[in-house]
This record gives sequence, structure tokens and C-alpha cells, in this order.
Amino acid sequence: MDLTRLLQSQGFGSRAECRALIAGGRVSVDGRRCVDWDEQFEAAGLVFCVDGVSWRYHKAVYLALHKPGCYECSHRPQYHRSVYSLLPVPLTRRGVEAVGRLDQDTTGLLLLSDDGAFVHRYTSPRKLVEKVYEVRTRYAVDEGQVQALLAGVTLRDEALTVAAVRCQRLDDRHLRLSVTLGRYHLVKRLLAAVGNRVESLHRVAIGGFVLPPELRAGDWMWLEAADLERLAAGCLAASAGGLRHGGHAAMEGAPGS
Ligand code: URA
Repeated sequence: MDLTRLLQSQGFGSRAECRALIAGGRVSVDGRRCVDWDEQFEAAGLVFCVDGVSWRYHKAVYLALHKPGCYECSHRPQYHRSVYSLLPVPLTRRGVEAVGRLDQDTTGLLLLSDDGAFVHRYTSPRKLVEKVYEVRTRYAVDEGQVQALLAGVTLRDEALTVAAVRCQRLDDRHLRLSVTLGRYHLVKRLLAAVGNRVESLHRVAIGGFVLPPELRAGDWMWLEAADLERLAAGCLAASAGGLRHGGHAAMEGAPGS
């Protein structure tokens, strides 16, 4: 692939902008400044530098972001900053989108991609992708609340019954809870339905991919092949788990869904 097209495909701007970067001596490969915009490279695996920043060629973008609090999952945020402002400009220029949304005050794992099929796969309720949250609650959680969440509760403001795939009490006011449905304020509404209240919410995993502990709030990482495999493998497990837990998927499809 010629260098201009390569840079363009990686989000470095229009053909003219990429040619200007090359002509300006701002692009290098293997420590060698490249000033010929028609120079050919094997794209797969190529590592190149723009203004001293190193990039690896990626045909498509798959990212994991550790979302901090006070960020909105929107390109046009209303009250806070956008999660997209945490990414380098070339990635946002590639049309990266969040895979589902987290509330502004929710922290933790957010996937982003420019691959529409991937975004659809991990947001579709039919795919039964398990999303795991750690929930701090205002009031002590009792066994009755855990059992109700596992059995399925009807949301207060919607004729929809939803069951947690898993729900484990970690301590008095701390739960690990997973759901497959993606719905506005879902975990907060589930806790409200059992008479409790969410104080803080942190997403720790999606499918089989766990937020790496070394990824700090505000940081992001590329998802490599092994990460994507883990993600997908965990999703198959989630669908089996869903059926084991009394057909919660059918309940999620109840009137109002
Ligand atoms: N459920 C919520 O209530 N909020 C989130 O951000 C995600 C799940």
C-alpha cells in the first residue's frame, strides 16, 4: 500500500493532509524519514511514526477504555467531557463508536470500535453478552434482594421483567452483578426495584474480557486477537449461563421490551 493511502486509512486526514505530513518530513518507518508519498509498504504489522509518536497499522479499531467518572458516552456531551476526547484524534477520525453506553457517573470497561458488525454484535440483546458490574449500594443488601435479582424483577417505570445472570454479595453494601440486557440505567433501576439504591457503579468485564487492573482510569488499549477471542468465548458462556438461570432472556423480552 502506498504511504499516503496507509496514513489515510489510519485516520491521519485527507489525501492532501497525509501528503503534507510526508513532504514535511514528519513520517518515519524503521527510524528512516519517508518523504516519498508513493513509497510502497506491506501494511500488515507495519510500525510507523508520525511526529515521533509510534503507531502500528490496524485494519480495524478495537479498543478497551477505562472510563472515568464525569465523562459522557456521546460525541456531543451536554454536561461533562466526551469519552471520545480521551482518544487520539486519528482514532476518532476513523469513526470509532462506543459499544453501548455507560452513564456519566459509571466507571470501568467501555469497548470502542469502527467495525459496525462488532458494535452490533456486542450491543444486540439477542447475543446475550454478559456485562459484569461491581455495585456499591446505599443500604445493606440482604439475601432476599439477591434472590429477587436472580429470579427477575419488574422495573418500576417499564413493563419489563429482568433477571441478573449472576449476583453475588461481596459485603454488606457491595455486589457483583451481571446482566445481558443493555438498557438505560438498567442496574440502577434493578436495584431500585428491590428497594435499594446504587451509590457507585463500575463495569469490570464484558463477555470473557476483564478490565486489566493496570489500565488506569482515562487510559485505553488496543484489543489484540487474544483479547477479542476472550471476549467472544465469554459471550458463548454467557448465553449458556443465561439459559441455566431460568430463561431470563425470555423475561427480558417481556412486554415493553
Ligand atoms: N446500568 C446503569 O444503571 N448504568 C450504567 O452505566 C450501566 C448499566
